[in-house]
Amino acid sequence: MDDRQWWKEAVVYQIYPQSFQDTTGSGTGDLQGITERLDYLKNLGVDVIWLSPIFESPGVDNGYDISDYRAINPRYGSMADFDRLLTEAHRRGIKLILDLVVNHTSDRHPWFAESRSSRDNPKRDWYIWRDGFNGGPPNELRSVFSGSAWRKDEITGQYYLHLFTIEQPDLNWANPEVRNAVYDMMRYWLDKGIDGFRMDVIDAICKPESALAVSGGAAESPFGYAGVHEYLREMNEKVLSRCDIMTVGETSSATVESALLFAGRESRELNMVFQFEHMFFDQDRQFGKWLTKKFDLPGLKKILDKWQTGLYGKAWNSLYWNNHDQPRVVSHFGCDADEQSRVLSAKMLGLCLHMMQGSPYIYQGEELGMTNTPLKSLEDCRDVEVFNAYRELVEEKKLLSHEQMMAGIQKSSRDNARTPMQWDGTKNAGFSAGTPWIPVNPNYRTINAALQVQDPDSVWSFYRRLIKLRKEIPVIVYGDFEDMLPDDRRVYAYRRRLEGKSLLAICNFSGEEVSDLDLDALGAGKGELLIANYDAETLDTTRLRPYEGRAYLVR
Ligand code: GLC
Repeated sequence: MDDRQWWKEAVVYQIYPQSFQDTTGSGTGDLQGITERLDYLKNLGVDVIWLSPIFESPGVDNGYDISDYRAINPRYGSMADFDRLLTEAHRRGIKLILDLVVNHTSDRHPWFAESRSSRDNPKRDWYIWRDGFNGGPPNELRSVFSGSAWRKDEITGQYYLHLFTIEQPDLNWANPEVRNAVYDMMRYWLDKGIDGFRMDVIDAICKPESALAVSGGAAESPFGYAGVHEYLREMNEKVLSRCDIMTVGETSSATVESALLFAGRESRELNMVFQFEHMFFDQDRQFGKWLTKKFDLPGLKKILDKWQTGLYGKAWNSLYWNNHDQPRVVSHFGCDADEQSRVLSAKMLGLCLHMMQGSPYIYQGEELGMTNTPLKSLEDCRDVEVFNAYRELVEEKKLLSHEQMMAGIQKSSRDNARTPMQWDGTKNAGFSAGTPWIPVNPNYRTINAALQVQDPDSVWSFYRRLIKLRKEIPVIVYGDFEDMLPDDRRVYAYRRRLEGKSLLAICNFSGEEVSDLDLDALGAGKGELLIANYDAETLDTTRLRPYEGRAYLVR
């Protein structure tokens, strides 16, 4: 058995505070709103809440641009509100982890104000400054949010690095003063009693010299550069290892090999990472998420199987379909075309993920099977990533037509995940008495928590059972993993084993009935049914109906 840890047995629930619950009528969610909904989360059964950033921020990237790491964004409330939220969460046995965004700050952070003020300011070297090359930026490094990653600052005539928007200058982690300032800030929150950190783009904090060279030419990617491990080991030694907390790094560059370093048992860095391969696999090489390929189940399975087996016994997986940066999974890998398919496929996807090895993350509304939202024009959008990409791909480079780009936005925009939480069928889905900062998904009258919490057949009740099963059946947490049908284009069937117990999960990802598989041979016939998304009385081993999902305990 893998060595036991509380965070291995935990289910995490991600809250995007801006869209969770507004209690003031401002149109923006707040901390008091989260406190008021703690009983909802307790009832669902989650163990840990991850809060997306709640710190002071101009909000260019919805809080991922922080101007004061030790202050609460006044739109969300006060420090007293935070302290109360933490106390009330702990009182219910729920832990709280915060988003640590330290690859960059906001350009409004006082550190940056100092750094840009003159070439000899003591904080100059806290950010990454370079001369231009022949009247242009130092090199061709590109921002994740389109355009050059370099911005000329008129005050001193040099360029600063920003891997994200121009309002998010990158910190210079090579400077030990920066690292120590970050560690101090982390201790400040840990002293308050928080239970860990989700670490934003942590695989980009260490930049290879060649990414920063004043060459005018191509630059190496700063994501996943090996030097990051040294910084994380230092952070672990100086801060993380001193408390019993959980840490998860956002690492879009992670491979199984690098994850063994980031989150290996012996590596003394983080507890786990968010890998991105299963999010990137249907994206186009050139246009990324704005032009996706047709869904291909064997391709998805290959990736997940590799992570399941590659980390087993050596490191720990995180499991996620959704977060604030991804479209809604039921619209992406499932089917939201009609109510029946939505409910079935949302449950099947939940089952598929929660029966795997690793710590599952639920993103707010996923437990209701919330869907993508209509994004018909740029006016419906709020995300800076969309506006930048539109400007570059449609207006400047004319690589995509308006229609192509809008189709990409509809399918993949982050705004799909950021619409307000659908609490009930009243005005604005019960999210706010004011005007929500982003429109509520119009389907809130049929898809909402009030309807689902009382319905034993709802997606919500299904998620609740999935979470409960994890608490009762150790093989779900600690078992190994084997794909039983790696090549099947419709069905994902896998087995988990631990100390003579075996668990079988069977998931039909297709909207078709499958009747040519021998489910008995997989072990379904002699198994004890744990959970299924069709009525147990109607299950047999000769067929799987559209989006059918089941899990069995096989002795
Ligand atoms: C991470 C966050 C994303 C943010 C970016 C820059 O990817 O999840 O929301 O835009 O980092 O901070």
